[in-house]
Order: sequence, then structure tokens, then C-alpha cells
Amino acid sequence: MKTKTILDSIGNTPLIEVEENIFAKIEGFNPGGSIKDRIVLNMILEAEKKGILKKGDTIVEPTSGNTGVALAMVGAMKGYNVSLLMPETTSPEKIKMIKAFGGEVILIESIRFRKDVIVDIKERIKQGEKIVFLNQYENPMNPLAHYQKTAQEILRQLKGRKIDFFVAGMGTGGTITGIGRKLKQKHKDLKIIGVQPKAGETIEGLRSLKEGFVPPILDLDLIDEIYDLESIKAEEARDDLAKNKGILAGPSSGAALYISREIAKNNPKARIVTVFPDRGERYLYY
Ligand SMILES: Cc1ncc(COP(=O)(O)O)c(C=O)c1O
Repeated sequence: MKTKTILDSIGNTPLIEVEENIFAKIEGFNPGGSIKDRIVLNMILEAEKKGILKKGDTIVEPTSGNTGVALAMVGAMKGYNVSLLMPETTSPEKIKMIKAFGGEVILIESIRFRKDVIVDIKERIKQGEKIVFLNQYENPMNPLAHYQKTAQEILRQLKGRKIDFFVAGMGTGGTITGIGRKLKQKHKDLKIIGVQPKAGETIEGLRSLKEGFVPPILDLDLIDEIYDLESIKAEEARDDLAKNKGILAGPSSGAALYISREIAKNNPKARIVTVFPDRGERYLYY
């Protein structure tokens, strides 16, 4: 029998009815503490299958944190070096976690993060540097992890009951695209709602399309509406979630809860599914 590793505990997270008709997938239950464990494992398995990634290789990735933690964890287990480019606003806890797994962290000025960083990494590869770039913003294995696994779990956990709305924060767009696509195939009238930070504000893990970068894996045609949210509202909802529901999650979970509640107010009978992407311990310095 194959020995179980920590990677076998990724996924199969609980779906909890946090409020009447609002069901949240609690992704902090993954071993690395976030939804990103799922996509990282999927991207790494595919790269290994294609022969792009071999033991001892160095993986380089821009990440606002959770993908970095997941990469460092999976990299530690599988014998890859992991070098992460992260915005200077990243929580110190995430940086410490990555280092604990043996990963390297390079902090980047927030304004240059993502678009410029992706261009820079591609240029390094062109110049012949021996690094592997999985690129969560372009890698189809990101939404596919959610299409094949996360969404299937939700459908199974709800035992086929109708879903009226799916609400998700948007970072790479993998969650909203992968889960949204599968749920919409099963429930034709489903409305898919995206959440992004109000322009100029930060909700860690989320980004605004108004910054001018649309991740290639994000399928905008799937999305019915996108809400811009003030970070203070996400933080208040996150605090309320801990104090009144006993779930300690990150600010993007607060954002998902806040918008789910707004939708519930206007659609009192609707069944709403959302995702709480990570655990709250990594934000306690706020
Ligand atoms: C805390 C947190 N919430 C939400 C998201 C958004 O998920 P996705 O990248 O699948 O759009 C991320 C992604 O980085 C995240 O780290």
C-alpha cells in the first residue's frame, strides 16, 4: 500500500452553513492553511508529468503569500528549491512560514508586483537561467484543480441541492473560474459574483481588475457581477466571523462573507455558496 504523505491531506475541506443559506468552504483546513495547496499540488504534478520539473530544480513564483506557503510546503516534501517574489505588504507570518519550510523570500515594491514581475521572470528564463516558473496566473492547472476537485466536493456536500449564487474573491481568478464553471454546468440559473478590493485599497490575496491586469486564466464571461469592497468592511466581517461564528479566517474570507450577506439581504430565499480561502492566524499582527 502507498504510504500517505502530508499531500494526501489536501482538499476535502468542510462546507459550513455559516448563516442561514450561506455555505462557506473552509479552505484553512488544508495542511498549508489555504486554498492554494490545491492548485500548487496540481501545477507541480502536471509539471512533473511533463518532465519540466525534477528533484533539485528551483521554482520561482510571484505570490501574495498563500501560493508561496503552499509551494514551500510541497517543495520541502518533494525536494525542490523555492524562491518567491512577494509584495512588501505581505504579512510577516506568511514570510516566516515560508522560511520555516526552507523557502526563499524576495520582497518587491507593491506597485511593480505581478505584471512587471511576470515579465522579469520570463526574461530571466529567456536569458538561460535554470528556473521553473509554474505561473499561477496563466497555468490552466490552477482553475482545473477547482473545477475537478473543489467544485465537486461542494456539489457532493450539498447533495445536489440547488445553488443560486456563487461568491468568490478574485486574485488569480482560479477559484472563481474553476468552481464557477463547474457549478454553472450543474445549476444553469446560478449567478457568479466576484469580489475585488476597491481601487487603491488592499485586501490580502485579492486584486482589482482596475489595476489593468486581467489574469489569462480568469474567465470574465462566466462572471455576472463584480463588487468593489472597502478593506475595512472585509476586516470587520472577518472579525465578526471569529467572534460570532468561531471561524478564524483571513480578510478575503471577510470580503466573501460581507458580499454574501449583501446578496442574502436582497435574495432572502437564495442558497449562496462562497469560499473562505485561508486561516486567520497569519494576519494577527494587524
Ligand atoms: C487569501 C486569499 N484569498 C483569495 C485569493 C484569491 O484566489 P484566486 O487566486 O483563486 O483568485 C487568494 C489568492 O492569492 C488568497 O491568497
